[in-house]
Amino acid sequence: MDIIDPAIQAYAEKYTSPEDALLAEVSAFTHAHHKEHHMLSGHLQGKFLEMISWMIRPRRILEIGTFTGYSALCLAKGLTPDGELHTIELREADSAKAREFFNASLTGKIISHTGNALELLPVMNETWDLVFIDADKVSYIEYFKLVLPRVRQNGFILADNVFFHGQVLDEQTNNKNARAMRAFSEYISERQDIDKVMITIRDGLYLIRKL
Ligand SMILES: C[S@@+](CC[C@H](N)C(=O)[O-])C[C@H]1O[C@@H](n2cnc3c(N)ncnc32)[C@H](O)[C@@H]1O
Repeated sequence: MDIIDPAIQAYAEKYTSPEDALLAEVSAFTHAHHKEHHMLSGHLQGKFLEMISWMIRPRRILEIGTFTGYSALCLAKGLTPDGELHTIELREADSAKAREFFNASLTGKIISHTGNALELLPVMNETWDLVFIDADKVSYIEYFKLVLPRVRQNGFILADNVFFHGQVLDEQTNNKNARAMRAFSEYISERQDIDKVMITIRDGLYLIRKL
């Protein structure tokens, strides 16, 4: 299901600043060599993430779900001069590939962790200005619960794929990821200690502010 009209998507991309050379390389590599290339944030959402980061000027960013590194490279652009982005990826091969791209840019600012985020998050002692949740959908509520105490007041959390290809509209869906995203959005909407807006870009992004 195309959530966004492809013609509108193309129109929006046409009037958005182009990808830089490294992002174009990450995208080309991922499309050529990765069967799950649809997971990459891509041009429009990537630019949006970069803009959000420039607006916040974060000192510490956390990303859960590195994949080949596209969104980390976008988010890292708005970091303060002493800033760091920590990104976690379960799969060794993706983590290693992303690290190659990170080494081509912003050396030292992107710190890549390989492993299960559910195990790594409890031992990360940072205070986050911005968190991007973009890993396995069934763990989103758990990721949120683990990171919220470590997000500064008025810090932000972004969660990707809240529409799960539009399948969240089917209340009876048997798809475990669509069900997980429905449960996550219910959970977020009910919490009173956060401000939230769901953004209809790509596969849906939840933007959350800690009160
Ligand atoms: C949707 S992709 C991330 C896309 C990337 N953020 C981007 O926009 O280019 C999700 C990634 O999360 C990783 N992942 C899944 N479960 C994880 C876990 N428990 N801990 C860390 N990473 C995980 C997957 O291996 C996959 O590479």
